[in-house]
Amino acid sequence: MSTAAIIPAAGLGLRLGGEAPKALREVGGESLLVHAVRGLSAATAAGLSCFVIAVPAGTEDVVAKQLDPYVGDAELRIVAGGAERTDSVRAALDLVPLDGIDCVLVHDAARSFVPVAVIERVVAAVRAGSPAVVPVIPVTDTIKRIGPGGEVLETPDRSALVAVQTPQGFDPELLRRAHSLDGAGATDDAMLCERLGVTVQTVEGSEDAFKVTRPRDLLLAEWILAERRGQ
Ligand code: C5P
Repeated sequence: MSTAAIIPAAGLGLRLGGEAPKALREVGGESLLVHAVRGLSAATAAGLSCFVIAVPAGTEDVVAKQLDPYVGDAELRIVAGGAERTDSVRAALDLVPLDGIDCVLVHDAARSFVPVAVIERVVAAVRAGSPAVVPVIPVTDTIKRIGPGGEVLETPDRSALVAVQTPQGFDPELLRRAHSLDGAGATDDAMLCERLGVTVQTVEGSEDAFKVTRPRDLLLAEWILAERRGQ
């Protein structure tokens, strides 16, 4: 049995600015998407046999050529993404092989520097019997829920809150069932499983799995890369 990785990489990255779609923006001379694929490939215990990447329509060939050297023996499939992240994941999920896969990872291209240990923890938890698994880190800010006028409605107990990252890991049949539902308003795939009443298990994430969202995140990405390359 092996793992398939879906990478939604079709976002335009408007908050990041710049000309290229976010996943194709470069850090240290390579695109965020290349960094993400290389990171997943390095997680040998995950046993990745297939990558399915959702990209902006029209970039399929460029991306296929760019990623080919980094997938090793795994199969590479590319699909045009959709209007929302959920649409992109669903389009990619349709290309995940039906046989021989016991875990499907869904990993944001923008979380390009997730450590191998996090990826392997997620896959191990799925293989140990949890049908939906998410990596998390504690929140450091106090979080408040606010009303339409900006007024504070409540302050949840911070010790019970976590920030959720990717890769998220799933039993393939569950993920297909979750994506057969209306995905409106879903900001991650675990949320779709929650809507089915399935218990989602958390494992320890990492600060390095942050999502490149705003221009300053590129600086942090450069710094992490330089540190890893021992510069
Ligand atoms: O916009 P956000 O940063 O939440 O996007 C998370 C991930 O989902 C990114 O890797 C982005 O490329 C991807 N995405 C996508 N299709 C969309 C929107 C976002 O694949 N329509």
